[in-house]
Amino acid sequence: MQERLSALLLRWYDANARVLPWRGIHDPYRTWVSETMLQQTRVETVMGYYERFLSRFPTVEALAAAPIEDVLKLWEGLGYYRRAHNLHRGAQQVAADFGGVMPDSVDALLTISGIGAYTAGAIASIAFDKPVPAVDGNVIRVVSRVRGVRENVGIPSVRRRIEQEAASLVPEQRPGDFNQALMDLGATVCVPGTPSCERCPLRDICDAYAAGDAEDIPELPRKNPPRVIDYDVCLILSGSRILMRQRTETMLQGLWVYPLAEGHHPQKQLPAAVRRLTKLPVVYVASMGEARHVFTHQIWQMKLHLLYTDAAKAPAGYRFVTLEEMETLTIPTAMKAALKAARECLKP
Ligand code: ADE
Repeated sequence: MQERLSALLLRWYDANARVLPWRGIHDPYRTWVSETMLQQTRVETVMGYYERFLSRFPTVEALAAAPIEDVLKLWEGLGYYRRAHNLHRGAQQVAADFGGVMPDSVDALLTISGIGAYTAGAIASIAFDKPVPAVDGNVIRVVSRVRGVRENVGIPSVRRRIEQEAASLVPEQRPGDFNQALMDLGATVCVPGTPSCERCPLRDICDAYAAGDAEDIPELPRKNPPRVIDYDVCLILSGSRILMRQRTETMLQGLWVYPLAEGHHPQKQLPAAVRRLTKLPVVYVASMGEARHVFTHQIWQMKLHLLYTDAAKAPAGYRFVTLEEMETLTIPTAMKAALKAARECLKP
């Protein structure tokens, strides 16, 4: 079974592999960067970021030596910025603990910040030809359908079973291609919902295809709905500068935002709320519209407001920045509408 499956899948891969910039290379650092970017992010989005990141940080040492601000700026718009922090910290670990050379075993890789079971398996198999699995969401779907795993994959014992199944399928020859073939099959043929079984190389050995219930597999854990949070986004001008705050919270840590007052305040009450938040005296100028941003666990419902202050000194944790300075900061996509409005206000 294992040999039949890997032969069928690799034959399909040789004819159908997507041509991607991180393929056909044996460089563990590059695999680490690409696999980190590909978590929760589409291949098409990652491509440009991957090229820019590697031209600025071509080696682990280059990344380790860079300021986190530069790393975040190259991650700007990609989201899940925790990945960038972890990659940077991990590179510093590799520089300090491994002499700048990426280790080749799953166990050693797992000691590095930001490298979990999936990424360790991907690096070991793709860059070092180790016959180990790399189980992401796509692989869970393919394996649970082929093997007919019908229990909820959120249950730890079920998840372990899928990992064991995946491990038993990885061939000694071309393990990295095999893992990437599973990912490609999951992304293009064995897709969520209704898969394209008529195009599938594994159809004849697929349990779910035989039973006709591929659409119902895998059974996924129930997700909590995202929390909706109302914010007043405050564009506070002082002369030709605007007030920004560098976040210290875990979410969007290190990124720059306009002051966020939680809730939607009546116009009259907003200056007092802003004063509590920033300690600055402000006057209300105008409403600048609304915006909405969907994160995994939160939805931000934002009302944008323009305010003036005659204060010139920013409170602790905040900075007054010019238009030019603002463009050098890393600003999350959630602030896209606010950023556009801020640019309009600061334009000479
Ligand atoms: N998704 C995650 N890793 C991938 C890879 N190496 N190729 C294609 N899609 C992926």
